[in-house]
Amino acid sequence: MTAAAPGLRVRDITVRFAGLVALDSVDLTVEPGSIHALIGPNGAGKSTCFNVLSGIHRPEHGSVRLDGTELTSLAPHRIAALGMARTFQNIVMTSGTVADNLLLGRHGHSRAGFAATALRLPHAVREQRAQLERAREIAELTGLGTHFRTPVDLLPYGDRKRVELARALCLEPRMLLLDEPVAGMNAAERARTAGTIGELRTRFGLTVVLVEHDMGLVMRLADEVTVLDFGRRIAGGTPAQVRQDPEVRRAYLGAPSPQESA
Ligand SMILES: Nc1ncnc2c1ncn2[C@@H]1O[C@H](COP(=O)(O)OP(=O)(O)OP(=O)(O)O)[C@@H](O)[C@H]1O
Ligand SMILES: [Mg+2]
Repeated sequence: MTAAAPGLRVRDITVRFAGLVALDSVDLTVEPGSIHALIGPNGAGKSTCFNVLSGIHRPEHGSVRLDGTELTSLAPHRIAALGMARTFQNIVMTSGTVADNLLLGRHGHSRAGFAATALRLPHAVREQRAQLERAREIAELTGLGTHFRTPVDLLPYGDRKRVELARALCLEPRMLLLDEPVAGMNAAERARTAGTIGELRTRFGLTVVLVEHDMGLVMRLADEVTVLDFGRRIAGGTPAQVRQDPEVRRAYLGAPSPQESA
């Protein structure tokens, strides 16, 4: 057996929806501790790619390895347990407070069983307190500290979107997949979230894969960029290399180009 390559190694992934090839033999390599942006026009296959990585879609063929472990045959909860957390393009949230949402995210880290928790057995109470403390730390880290006990319904959009990020972090992941984390945010909210994402990498060594249409943010944050168009990988490299790539410029004709919106 060869030594397990660290990071994320996606090879030759194909996904078809009836006649439509959503991903066509796509390769993607994400180095550990890096921020990698996955970009491309609408319908390019970016969210489909995240669905493959997180086990929601099983590809027709191809391989996805996280630190050497093959993921394509695993159920989403098994992939999450291996340290791959994600957020969705559209906000997926239960009602309740920020704390309630984050504690749901910590479910996998709770050792006390349901019955012990319901009966308030001492070890379960201790455990619950520890979970709450960690959820609060993550809320602080993501700028939600002052809203910890606020119902999510009452939060402005940008903060609600950050609850998603915080909830993904509650999984204590090694890799974080963020599908358009600043979409719909105003400039101040975008800057703040970009700062948080950068900090997650520098302070905690987290590997981040980011789908984002905000090219200014991509160019600022990403170490490497992969570009999809109509399900095909058309370019990859540093943000500066990708911005100059003629194929990329062609793909963005009629859509905001990485150059223009930077
Ligand atoms: N469940 C599905 N059933 C059928 N077609 C789908 C399904 N999910 C995605 N598609 C199609 O696959 C293609 C890729 O979609 P995907 O959502 O991955 O694109 P995207 O790059 O995330 O686009 P956007 O930037 O608009 O979010 C599109 O043509 C889309 O209509
Ligand atoms: Mg998408």
